[in-house]
Amino acid sequence: MRDTDLPQSPMPDTPFHMKPDARDAVRSLRPSQIREVANAGFGVPDVLPFWFGESDRVTPPFIRDAASAALASGATFYTHNLGIAPLRETLAKYVSALHGPTSAEHVAVTSAGVNALMLAAQLVVGAGDRVIAVTPLWPNLVEIPKILGAHVDTVSLVYGANGWQLNLDRLLAALTPDTKLLMINSPNNPTGWVMTRDEQRAVLEHCRRHGIWIVADEVYERLYYAGEAGETAPSFLDLAARDERVICVNSFSKAWLMTGWRLGWIVAPAALMDDLGKLVEYNTSCSPAFVQQAGIAAIEQGAAFTRDLVGDLRASRDHLVQALSAVPGVDVKAPPGAMYVFFSLPGASRSLELCKALVRDARLGLAPGSAFGPEGEGFVRWCYACDPARLDAGVERLRAWLEQQGAAHG
Ligand SMILES: Cc1ncc(COP(=O)(O)O)c(C=O)c1O
Repeated sequence: MRDTDLPQSPMPDTPFHMKPDARDAVRSLRPSQIREVANAGFGVPDVLPFWFGESDRVTPPFIRDAASAALASGATFYTHNLGIAPLRETLAKYVSALHGPTSAEHVAVTSAGVNALMLAAQLVVGAGDRVIAVTPLWPNLVEIPKILGAHVDTVSLVYGANGWQLNLDRLLAALTPDTKLLMINSPNNPTGWVMTRDEQRAVLEHCRRHGIWIVADEVYERLYYAGEAGETAPSFLDLAARDERVICVNSFSKAWLMTGWRLGWIVAPAALMDDLGKLVEYNTSCSPAFVQQAGIAAIEQGAAFTRDLVGDLRASRDHLVQALSAVPGVDVKAPPGAMYVFFSLPGASRSLELCKALVRDARLGLAPGSAFGPEGEGFVRWCYACDPARLDAGVERLRAWLEQQGAAHG
């Protein structure tokens, strides 16, 4: 091709020369402050990273083997938008056992929890809609509706002697009749707060009265330490009929250590499924076939694995809380769910600066509370899904750094 064959630029005042900006709604999304801290840690040797929400262990072999076998047998094609029938059936049985009768027509396979949240929001909210989110909160639940042009108001949990609690009256007052959707995550990232059954009942009844949709993010439901061993956290699925305005989001990432696989699911009214299928088609078309096969193995063979994992996480949580409690200036409480300790310490009123200093000077990687909304300021988040010896090494770095700060300023 000769130069003269290249398209000629139109005149400078034509739209061709307008700045290549994304939409306003996208440009105004908040970038991840966890990433900001992690980026500050690149190049710092030997950082102990506790900033991301994932375990340091690889996916168990029986799940990896199932994926390998599926690949070897040629599971490389597109699947049904809503997932392969055997996985939907397996999930329906799993959900039924935990939360009461659920058929495969209420289940859709997604490309992990975050895609499930996006699809759920795309199903029910549009430009100008009002959404309520309970915070502090993993930022995706707040930012996703904004991508769609919705307006998100937040209701903050309250921190007190018993840790993080919901002010139910405040939430109900915020759920006005013109609200389209409540985004709620329990067990909660970052605080570990778990909504009680009574709170769920009150919220569900209120939302029923006003026709408000609920998107319940229950990806940590198995990571629950307040009940009997193996008990699942209270779920909206325990209370709501399957054809109500409740969309429940779940994931293989946390309870089967499958973060990198990108596999999750939605439980929703059957009447939504045709429209959900269209959205899946236009987002991802389907989850990879061999990953879906691995999902069947995870559910069918994973009960003992998940039980042991939750036992290990409970022990890690207790270990970390005890070790942190002995550090002067730290205020920490054992949360009932998820895999994080969200605690306060000197300097955390500017948590982003604090976390950057910790990574740079103490080689300790924590997530700033402000990453989870202004309500999280004053706290930092520590993911304890790792070996206790690593937790000890991290606590020692924190203790030494705080001591040094105290000496420098006192
Ligand atoms: C509250 C919450 N919801 C959803 C997710 C999504 O996880 P994934 O997309 O890996 O399933 C996460 C991940 O950390 C989370 O913390």
